[in-house]
Amino acid sequence: MSTFPADFVWGTATASYQIEGAVTEDGRGPSIWDTFVHTPGTVADGTVGDVADDHYHRYTEDIAILADLGFTAYRFSIAWPRIQPTGTGPANDAGLDFYRRVAETCLEHGITPYATLYHWDLPQPLEDAGGWLSLDTAAAFRDYAALTHDALGDVIKHWITLNEPWCSAFLGYGSGLHAPGKQLGAEAFKAGHHLLLAHGLAINAMRESRHADSTLGITVNLYSVHAASDSDVDREAARRTDGIANRFFLDPLLLGGYPSDVLLDAGVSDWFDERSADLQVIAAPVDFLGINYYSRHTVAGPEDRVWSDPSVPSPAPGSENVQIVDTGAPKTQMGWEIHPDGLVDVVEMVHERAPELPVFITENGAAYADEVGADGQVDDEERRHYFELHTAACADAVAKGLPLKGYFAWSLLDNFEWAFGFSRRFGLVHVDYDTQVRTVKKSGHWFRDFLRSQPS
Ligand code: FCB
Repeated sequence: MSTFPADFVWGTATASYQIEGAVTEDGRGPSIWDTFVHTPGTVADGTVGDVADDHYHRYTEDIAILADLGFTAYRFSIAWPRIQPTGTGPANDAGLDFYRRVAETCLEHGITPYATLYHWDLPQPLEDAGGWLSLDTAAAFRDYAALTHDALGDVIKHWITLNEPWCSAFLGYGSGLHAPGKQLGAEAFKAGHHLLLAHGLAINAMRESRHADSTLGITVNLYSVHAASDSDVDREAARRTDGIANRFFLDPLLLGGYPSDVLLDAGVSDWFDERSADLQVIAAPVDFLGINYYSRHTVAGPEDRVWSDPSVPSPAPGSENVQIVDTGAPKTQMGWEIHPDGLVDVVEMVHERAPELPVFITENGAAYADEVGADGQVDDEERRHYFELHTAACADAVAKGLPLKGYFAWSLLDNFEWAFGFSRRFGLVHVDYDTQVRTVKKSGHWFRDFLRSQPS
């Protein structure tokens, strides 16, 4: 087993809508995910997250399990519509109280809380007013972030503005596979810009607060991108995929400007030229960068424009001809290729742009069709192996001298996996959705042994 520095952070990650349930309790307003999942045809198994893991009522039990497994950090997200039920205006104290109790319960167990301010649950009234296509949403996010950080910054010291703006923009407003389900092609780039602006505005607002000791960052999902061959079309496909998935986010955040080739491919250069004044805000210095790493993309670019799923538009507007190639490597139940070395590639991607910046893997994990056996155990050997491979990749990154400072497994609990509903399980802990019984899986036991072997 690899050995890590004593201050390496080990945690698990979750997201509010995926685990909390209690969607109408204590003044919470509706979010775009409430609306989306209750729209027929949006979720593969027809399920909704109204109850999910009932974590809103069971958080003490869940945090006790986390502590028992030996983790010392917990990344959870704060549901904006619990704090501001309509997206703007004064705070709902009951919402703030819930997250204060979550944070304090963590601290009682010696677990350091990491809070994500936006893991996709936009208050519905803000979507009705234009959502992430509107500049006003960026300003509203700044106010929400400032208010929440001001209220909870005494107990939460680590803050992540956005989770995976790529998904919010391109799945939410491009392909429509995620809430709010808009299929608007290249308009998704504008949503991406407003999300990045919201991040920068929030960072600047939180920096000015009374909690000057907070560390502030953002989480992006990055892919290790490879061309299927050395041919010009395949290398061009790799350029485009790396552009939309990685460079469109990393370059403005860390280098102060968008990659011009990506804007040209999508035909949005003029719109972006008029917004160049926002670039300085977007590049507001951060204390760390979070990476969600799951898989690699090996891509090819046939001459004809084809997008393999005719039922929805491509999430890559302007690059519809790019095909993800099946290399034959093993995949998880999501169909995502297992490629641990790619974790080092994505940390390097950040390091090349910002050599001093601490990096965290804020999500990494695998879906498999788990079952509780007759002996009451969940033998998820494939997931255990996945974690073994990816923690070893973290060790490789550290050994290379890369500033990787921590790792958060996705996820603590099986949960509501967005458009897949309850049909995909990612947890270290199995959840029976009928009884809410939690069962630590083999992968969870493995993690406990692994963490015990680490210096403390
Ligand atoms: C990421 C999301 C997270 C979860 C995992 C499997 O894209 O951030 O909420 O759905 O994928």
